Amino acid sequence: MVKLVFPKDFLWGTATASYQIEGAWNEDGKGESTWDRFSHTPGAIYQNQNGDVACDHYHRYEEDVKLMAEIGLKAYRFSISWPRIFPEGRGKINPKGVSFYERLINKLLEKNIKPAITLYHWDLPQALEDKGGWLNRDTAKYFSEYASFIFYKFGDMVPIWITLNEPFVNAFLGYAWGWHAPGKKDLKGAFVAGHNLLLAHGLAVQAYKEGGYNGNIGITINVAAVYPYTNSEEDLRAVQVQDAFENRWFIEPIFRKKYPEVIWKILEKNYLSFDFPISDFDIISSPIDFLGINYYTRNIVAHDESNKFLGLKRIEGPNERTEMGWEIYPDGLYDILIQLYRDYKIPIYITENGAAYNDKLENGKVEDNKRIEYLREHIKRAYFAIRDGVDLRGYFIWSLMDNFEWAHGYSKRFGIIYVDYDTQKRILKDSAYFYKKVIEENGIEE
Ligand code: NOJ
Repeated sequence: MVKLVFPKDFLWGTATASYQIEGAWNEDGKGESTWDRFSHTPGAIYQNQNGDVACDHYHRYEEDVKLMAEIGLKAYRFSISWPRIFPEGRGKINPKGVSFYERLINKLLEKNIKPAITLYHWDLPQALEDKGGWLNRDTAKYFSEYASFIFYKFGDMVPIWITLNEPFVNAFLGYAWGWHAPGKKDLKGAFVAGHNLLLAHGLAVQAYKEGGYNGNIGITINVAAVYPYTNSEEDLRAVQVQDAFENRWFIEPIFRKKYPEVIWKILEKNYLSFDFPISDFDIISSPIDFLGINYYTRNIVAHDESNKFLGLKRIEGPNERTEMGWEIYPDGLYDILIQLYRDYKIPIYITENGAAYNDKLENGKVEDNKRIEYLREHIKRAYFAIRDGVDLRGYFIWSLMDNFEWAHGYSKRFGIIYVDYDTQKRILKDSAYFYKKVIEENGIEE
């Protein structure tokens, strides 16, 4: 067997997000977030579950960092809960919230684990939602105030910063389709929310650069390589449209100072286009140091006249699926890495990749062979992308541990650590031992 060895200093990590693991939703002065409000709304979440307690990470972070060290992680990506720092979204600071993240960062540094902080992973302060949330342009300004404070506090301790996680999902699932907080259903609103998210991103990047900190800052975008159902001209055009909508809508403004034209035209045709000062693009395109991508699956699309918006439909692929119903397609990771690096020539981190399975704890063990297979195949494609010239700097598994999977509640387990929610006991799954070996050897067998 040939060993695929990664570059020295390749960053092996895992990822989580505040609302999905912390719990302590109303403790120590934390303000309410949109996800607190949404998950407390009957019928919003699977079995009316919520993140009130989640993995109780707020109280168990020391144990969790020990487990990270046991796995040998080089980096840990987590998010800061904005309303834990600014309970009202702006103004008065909550010192106990600040202290929690300070203790967490210090523990990580003690164990030589690099913190990679996401500033916003969807838990907006409810006080700001009450003023219009991301539909309100001022939210971008408040975000940059919050970000500036966090940089001032932790800028010298943290080497990797991610402004936003998956703005596409936040904007469309939250504001157009109603599946996520704040549960709105207004397609045009989603585009406006998306624009304000981008503005928030740009302002935060500017604040970071002006602060002169010596780490790196970027953004995390959800991507799915897109393939045509047939090679007909119409299906190939559908690929372009889907790629522009899901993959590039939030990338092109940053690198090219414009929204993808195919989609903008569709917006105009459907009375969905929105106004903004063109100078926003100067802010949005403030240079970033890396692009973070979250990759789980691919999309196959076909032309579909009956779809009035994008004019296409998604076709189910033939391969096996994870518990989320997502087709497993590792080659898609390779393809999207090659495409993005070709187009933007920027260092890339895979800030999330992983799989949900119906794991069973038996005799103190979780034999999650399917997850191991999933990870192995994707890590291999990451290697091939590096071999073929992509400047890929790191790989983060979603997730460190089982957690609150948004609208699916606790029914989907993504962790390489099993969480017994009755006792809050953590058990390393076989995939955690697999990953430990990958990290030790800085590579994988082909
Ligand atoms: C993307 C999101 O960033 C994360 O919060 C979520 O749990 C995973 N993907 C899995 O769906």
